[in-house]
Amino acid sequence: MHVEQGIRTNRIIIAIDGPAASGKSTTARKVARMLGYTYIDTGAMYRSVTLKAIRRNVIDDLRRSPESVVALLEDITIRFDGDHVYLDGTDVTEAIRDNRVSREVSFISSLKPVRDRLRQMQQELGKLRGVVMDGRDIGTIVFPDAELKIFLVADARERAERRYAELKAKSNGASGLPGIEELEEEIKERDRADAEREHAPLRKHPDATEIDTSDLSVEQQVRKVYELALALLKEDR
Ligand code: DC
Repeated sequence: MHVEQGIRTNRIIIAIDGPAASGKSTTARKVARMLGYTYIDTGAMYRSVTLKAIRRNVIDDLRRSPESVVALLEDITIRFDGDHVYLDGTDVTEAIRDNRVSREVSFISSLKPVRDRLRQMQQELGKLRGVVMDGRDIGTIVFPDAELKIFLVADARERAERRYAELKAKSNGASGLPGIEELEEEIKERDRADAEREHAPLRKHPDATEIDTSDLSVEQQVRKVYELALALLKEDR
């Protein structure tokens, strides 16, 4: 067999799904680095569309007439470059983590035209395989043929504590941080919205390996996923 073809057939898709703050992006980013794969954060794509809606001040209009979201999608470009995300050519890596975006993203990601458009972009980004993609519907809808499907879960309280620690580290002592209880409520609300929506709800694919990260260190969860990937890659040789 031609060598290049051999390498190509040996590149897999790793789909990592799970609820908010379950450790998906940290795990996915590290596993991608270890395998020399591309990491694609699909949550960042939904956040980018949401940021665009906020910046255009159309969130309320969209609640009244959700079909008008197509105007927002017409000329949109979302590009990844290393750890940076670019929306229509502008670096939005920080802006998409804003709390306002987190509050509105479940609504925007429940809209079918948004899901259709982003799914198409994600399938294009992963078509050469060799990607680790995280989100809510990667193993179920975007790449149901992904060779490795992982479903990460963790206690809501634990997830709120992780989010709090993350925000605190970023805030440099600034005041106005939300409390852990408030974060836990927000996380539960987002889980509920993501799992109950009509289009592509958060679900575990029957073939997915579930990993509960509540009592695992980042290193432990990364190792588990990495080892599952290595086992598949060896099988494929
Ligand atoms: O992973 P995250 O918290 O950054 O994702 C933000 C939101 O985007 C999440 O609440 C639901 C939505 N999302 C989705 O609907 N489908 C995906 N594949 C990824 C994210």
